[in-house]
Amino acid sequence: MAKLTVRDLDVTGKRVFLRVDYNVPLEEKDGKMVITDATRIVETLPTLKRLIEQGGRLILAAHLGRPKGKREATMSLRPVADKLQELLGRPVAFADDCIGESVEKLVEHMKNGDVVLLENVRYYNEEEANDPAFAEKLAKVADVYVNDAFGAAHRAHASTEGVARVVAKRGGQCAAGLLMERELKFLGDELENPAHPFVVILGGAKVSDKIKVIDRLLEKADTILIGGAMAYTFRLAHGQKVGKSLVEPDHKQTALDAEAKAKRLKVQFELPSDVVVAKAVETGKLNKKGKPVMDFVNIHTVTDAIPEDAEGFSIGAATAAHYAQIISGAKTILWNGPMGMFEDARFAAGTNAVAQAVAAATQQHGAKSIIGGGDSVKALNKAKLGDKVTFMSTGGGASLEFLEGAVLPGVAALSDK
Ligand code: 3PG
Ligand code: MG
Repeated sequence: MAKLTVRDLDVTGKRVFLRVDYNVPLEEKDGKMVITDATRIVETLPTLKRLIEQGGRLILAAHLGRPKGKREATMSLRPVADKLQELLGRPVAFADDCIGESVEKLVEHMKNGDVVLLENVRYYNEEEANDPAFAEKLAKVADVYVNDAFGAAHRAHASTEGVARVVAKRGGQCAAGLLMERELKFLGDELENPAHPFVVILGGAKVSDKIKVIDRLLEKADTILIGGAMAYTFRLAHGQKVGKSLVEPDHKQTALDAEAKAKRLKVQFELPSDVVVAKAVETGKLNKKGKPVMDFVNIHTVTDAIPEDAEGFSIGAATAAHYAQIISGAKTILWNGPMGMFEDARFAAGTNAVAQAVAAATQQHGAKSIIGGGDSVKALNKAKLGDKVTFMSTGGGASLEFLEGAVLPGVAALSDK
């Protein structure tokens, strides 16, 4: 990697401003905010331990949710400090702010190996605006800057980009953390020269969300397998009936162009031959957000036209078996996006079959399997197969942008080797 990493640093006695992505899911239980998935915290521990062992003084900065410049109590990082302390097995002090005198005082009293977590940087609008004066304020406690927040590296914000520039201008070092390094290795270098056959599995709701990734990976992949709701836009483009399925009529040509490019480059491009459909009906109930709760009736599989009153919710069993067969022969696998609405057990079979095939190819045939974050990671974890794949990204939007070939501002800001 062409960027400096924590392996290149000596941080003994130095104040390390460490940006992490602790934007973890929280749920309110008995008036307390509880973390429901601590993966993003766990994955930063190697970086933290390395810097602590060297005698660095760690000042951790992160965001949580989108409080839009206000001190939203439900978006405080305090529960994260408690969780980190438990996982790290040593004290983690929590600063009630991310800038100002109180932070500077706390940092003044730090000893080598101490850890402080700052309050949500997005309590200030200046964070997302990447305000230079705010970046200067954050940088007051930074001798060295380390970015381990791959999941937020697609944002050019003060704590992901601005602080690095301030530190670099002073002649300080700006380095990638070990998690950042791993993410860039698997989503970047490993896919640059993949072992073949290279099978790419793409799902999710929209063709428009994935088209840049499809376009780029068509240059590298041997096979692309399409699932999820975006398959219905392909069906629509072929003139097939899609009923009430989620489609993007404005992207019919996008879909056809992708297929044409695949043909030109001799990439096998597979669309679902069968899909699970159902009729959505209102239950009369509202969810927590006040939206109507739907139920699904008349669930069945179709190969041709989707009935007028029905909607597609997953790839069918024949497609799942066909995809699993292709996956079993892969040497490199990239999976981004579920094959259907896996959150509902009635529509999870297709996604689960793909998850199992990816795990089996990894475990039995030594395939390298890379999971591009977000919902596909959730699906694998739900199927208890998270530890059976080679790598699962902690990024959502960041992974997608990186797979599209974009330069991430949070990476660009780091010092070159
Ligand atoms: C994420 O969870 O996607 C990252 O932490 C970035 O958060 P954001 O989408 O609110 O910028
Ligand atoms: Mg996001």
